Amino acid sequence: MITANPHYEKLRASYLFSDIAKRVSAYQQSCPDVDIIRLGIGDVTHGLPDACVQAFHRGVDEMAVDATFRGYGPEQGYSFLRDKIAAEDFRARGADIDGDEIFVSDGAKCDTGNFQELFSTDIKIAIPDPVYPVYLDTNVMAGRTGEFNNGRYGGVCYMECTAENNFVPDLPEEPVDLIYLCFPNNPTGTTITKSALKRWVDFARDTDALILFDAAYEAFIRNEDLPRSIYEIEGAREVAVEFRSFSKTAGFTGTRCAYTVVPKSCRVFDQTGKPVLLHSLWNRRHTTKFNGVAYPVQRAAEAVYSTEGKAQVKALVDGYLENAKIIQRAMDSMGFNYVGGTDSPYVWINGNGRDSWEFFDLLLKKAGVVCTPGTGFGQCGEGYIRISAFNSRDKVETAMARMREALGS
Ligand code: MLT
Repeated sequence: MITANPHYEKLRASYLFSDIAKRVSAYQQSCPDVDIIRLGIGDVTHGLPDACVQAFHRGVDEMAVDATFRGYGPEQGYSFLRDKIAAEDFRARGADIDGDEIFVSDGAKCDTGNFQELFSTDIKIAIPDPVYPVYLDTNVMAGRTGEFNNGRYGGVCYMECTAENNFVPDLPEEPVDLIYLCFPNNPTGTTITKSALKRWVDFARDTDALILFDAAYEAFIRNEDLPRSIYEIEGAREVAVEFRSFSKTAGFTGTRCAYTVVPKSCRVFDQTGKPVLLHSLWNRRHTTKFNGVAYPVQRAAEAVYSTEGKAQVKALVDGYLENAKIIQRAMDSMGFNYVGGTDSPYVWINGNGRDSWEFFDLLLKKAGVVCTPGTGFGQCGEGYIRISAFNSRDKVETAMARMREALGS
């Protein structure tokens, strides 16, 4: 008899953003005339930077003729892209990373979800609450979390992020093996200082743990004192893996290109406590299960690092950051407390006593605006909503005006 993976029964019925999409589509069907403005899922809305489009076209043209056609490429990515990433995103900021430590992929969601496969099922994971649901759900699927009771999995160490700790998790008080961190944070939009990040690196070194550091939103950092990469912190190479994406940076959500950094000195341990190098494990996994990102897409991603590409990407991100400021100002004027929206595209808003889904429904039905209910990111998100800055200026301004009207403020 073929039996299903029993751990799937422990998951919530559907993935957060699928659940929201279903609710929004049901509402749209019942009210087809409402022009819904989507500030929920962090999906970009502006066209690709011109430098990327031109490189994309050239890549497609090369694929059209035998002399320049490419079949299977290296699973880890072409060296023209890996070397550029290492030089521009890391060494230019003093972080010691080489091209062959970069694994190009089709998305940070897939990589953050898949990476847990490299670890044994009996490790203890530490996850922030609220959290990007992929980290938790993929560990549930792998059978690493224990049973779900009263809104939480018994085997997980939840690191609560609340107004009391400025939404930056405290070091766990119990022993943990794998730590998920995300900065600038999804969903709260908060950032971490170098000294606070150093405490995490030191903790991982002292306790033989590993950090999975999701830096998908680093391009939104404008404060030069903040770290963009965990490898700007001394000692991180041995204890941290970093995930990056071109999705939010250069508008690649539909084009698909991201990368994971696994330093050659990054270690885990075998059952006898002997160090095992993670680079060779991820390389084995990647070459077995993945056949590389399309050549024209990698050429388009490479163009992000050209002089024009850099300027165009900066302009795109600046535009979204300006939207985030508009959201912040609207929240100030309506008397809502919030964090995020500075060095981040997400604003995390306290609903002044409303529960998350109640606030979500109110905004959808009275203002035609989609947000993300905080509770979808974990228990500590109850009472909050997340508003994303990913939309056009015009739509963000209209959404804020509609919200003011709906709330009578
Ligand atoms: C989000 O809205 O949290 C993100 O867009 C989800 C993702 O990047 O997968």
